Amino acid sequence: MIHSFGSQPGWGAHLADELERIVALHDASTIAAVIVEPVAGSTGVLIPPQGYLQKLREICTKHGILLIFDEVIMAFGRVGKATASEYFGVTPDLITMAKAINNAAIPMGAVAASRTVHDTIVNAGAQGAIELFHGYTYSAHPAAVAAAIATLALYRSEGLFERAASLAPTFEAAAHSLRGTKHVKDIRNLGMIAGIELESREGAPGARAYEAFVKCFEAGVLVRFTGDILAFSPPLIINEEQIAHIFKTVGDVLATVQ
Ligand SMILES: Cc1ncc(COP(=O)(O)O)c(C=O)c1O
Repeated sequence: MIHSFGSQPGWGAHLADELERIVALHDASTIAAVIVEPVAGSTGVLIPPQGYLQKLREICTKHGILLIFDEVIMAFGRVGKATASEYFGVTPDLITMAKAINNAAIPMGAVAASRTVHDTIVNAGAQGAIELFHGYTYSAHPAAVAAAIATLALYRSEGLFERAASLAPTFEAAAHSLRGTKHVKDIRNLGMIAGIELESREGAPGARAYEAFVKCFEAGVLVRFTGDILAFSPPLIINEEQIAHIFKTVGDVLATVQ
């Protein structure tokens, strides 16, 4: 279930029309790609309004602009599917990934390209002359790749994407139990990610969430904060008691925050 500020029908398409305006202003021929986080994580857990990503896809396809999803946070089970792209049923041309690709055990990032993007590049030169290859010093580092292969095997054998999907309602209920708590302005969630937006302290944006972050840490719960939004993105092995513990701690802390 999606909780979003923009869940009214039509709002997502309306927001995506902003892209049409920009394309009209600059001309599609000057725009190589549109890059979005399908669920914006570090800007405060912003769930896309219904229809928004679909409309972006339509606009990009219409104008021959590549659509790139930054799934560094979302990929590998965060929303109960392999990717947010799969969850929303919107297929971009490129997907960037990192973090959960190998449980962040060793630094690693990856880009998935559509067959069309791949073939367009590879077929641009004589047979075998061009590869879709990036010669970074640490490209395909064996230790990082081994960690990725092991992590992907665990996702499958432990059914962790399905686990995330089945825990999502518990996680949602726990996050929303803080509705009406002191300082809480908005609560947003999808899958195993949630954001609790606090009223900002007069003249000191971010200070209230920082205080909450420090107090949660002292109480043994690590949350993330971005501006005045507390962000939650727990490991997919979390259990129901731990979910309850996290949000109980946050509620207790918010009661003591100035
Ligand atoms: C959504 C998102 N995109 C990109 C990045 C940067 O990824 P990397 O550090 O793997 O380059 C981050 C890092 O936290 C991120 O959260």
